[in-house]
Amino acid sequence: MSRSKTKPPKIYYLCNDCGHEHLKWSGKCVGCGEWNTLVEFKEREEPLPLPGGAELSLHTLTDINNSSGEVRHGTGMSELDRVLGGGLVKGSLVLLSGDPGIGKSTLLLQICEHLSKDLKVLYVSGEESERQIKLRADRLGIKPDNLFLAASTDCEAVVNTARKNKADILIIDSIQTVTISGISSTAGSVTQVRECTSLLMRMAKSDEISVFVVGHVNKDGGVAGPKVLEHIVDAVLYFEGDKQLSYRILRAAKNRFGSTNEIGVFEMRDLGLAEVPNPSAMLLSGRPGGVGGISILCTMEGTRPILAEVQALVSKTGFGQPRRVANGFDYNRLCLILAVLEKRTGLLFGTYDVYINIIGGLKIEERAADLGVALALYSGLTDIVVPEDLAVFGEIGLGGEIRNISNIRERVRECARMGFTRVIVPKAALKNLDKRENYGINITGAANLKQMFSALLK
Ligand code: TYD
Ligand code: MG
Repeated sequence: MSRSKTKPPKIYYLCNDCGHEHLKWSGKCVGCGEWNTLVEFKEREEPLPLPGGAELSLHTLTDINNSSGEVRHGTGMSELDRVLGGGLVKGSLVLLSGDPGIGKSTLLLQICEHLSKDLKVLYVSGEESERQIKLRADRLGIKPDNLFLAASTDCEAVVNTARKNKADILIIDSIQTVTISGISSTAGSVTQVRECTSLLMRMAKSDEISVFVVGHVNKDGGVAGPKVLEHIVDAVLYFEGDKQLSYRILRAAKNRFGSTNEIGVFEMRDLGLAEVPNPSAMLLSGRPGGVGGISILCTMEGTRPILAEVQALVSKTGFGQPRRVANGFDYNRLCLILAVLEKRTGLLFGTYDVYINIIGGLKIEERAADLGVALALYSGLTDIVVPEDLAVFGEIGLGGEIRNISNIRERVRECARMGFTRVIVPKAALKNLDKRENYGINITGAANLKQMFSALLK
């Protein structure tokens, strides 16, 4: 009995990132490979007794008064507002991340013009001088009156200034450049980035200042990248796109005040970013006619149907293993569709390299895109050209069957609106179409891949 009293408390080391337990301290976590994340942890000798004393006050949902609701600021860009869930929530902190040069600073400077009409906006840049920002604003042709600029990297000074001046909106470009002087690590390190963000978060909540924070994604996986911040902030937006192409897609990876399914589409022009309210038209422009291996599919991005072009290149393998490359589409899903095509329809891809590309930098994760990919592969292999006025959508099962999908009406309407005259859809989806509605388009149901290919030749 007395022995257990004298036994020293057990000490071990836990990784702050992944929680892996180590008996000895080490510089690098065995669990996740991160450096300097271990902290000492002492096990209690006695378990805590069940507490008495302080109690929480409880409310039912009806007790809670939400008449004030959340206040949202319109940014003047409806594409951005939609991704935010209907505007920027007062007192929220939004992380905008993306590769360098993708257009984050441009987007934020552009929304300043609208925001500063009624609100006090503070734009702090640690990357550019005030003169550079002015030049950019001139180039964008904006003259916001109520916009205040500062070039600074001192996070505490920024927070102090925003509070003293009663700013409504604070923009920090970028989180990797600001520092808190009391913390000894360098700008951009995990510690600085994390501490600065939580300081900004506390300010956002206590003073109801909406904050936009820019974060660069590092090419090598992002040590100080926005990943470490995602759980702190209210919303995480990713600005994506090919730097060579002018199209940019904004998507929410996390949003405490809205859905994460919505995307916003922009085009980088000479005079800054322009909204693209009709992405289908953009993605379908410049289609080559009369070439095999091309099909059009309809995918849902949030509540919005979008038509996209799939290109498949099927070419003889020169030597050894055939290659499979998927751009904008899941690689494993491509392999699965190829296997189903081989097994269920007898199309043989074994001696061919296969390349799949979704045009316009779009990344499609939806299963409903299967059918479009299968059709492009079929056309690429057989050189049978898919009619230009045909769009398809449906999920493919392992038996070669075409399975039902959601939002059939919205998809059919979008195809009709974009001037397509025929769609092939899962047979099981036909019953979900509204009988009274005239969709103005020829709708064919196919139960399996063979039926789809024969419908094509009709
Ligand atoms: P920027 O907003 O500086 O990118 P980030 O802040 O994400 O690093 O955008 C830089 C790119 O955008 C740059 O390559 C030039 C281009 N650009 C235009 O094409 N048109 C414009 O009007 C502006 C301001 C920039
Ligand atoms: Mg920038």
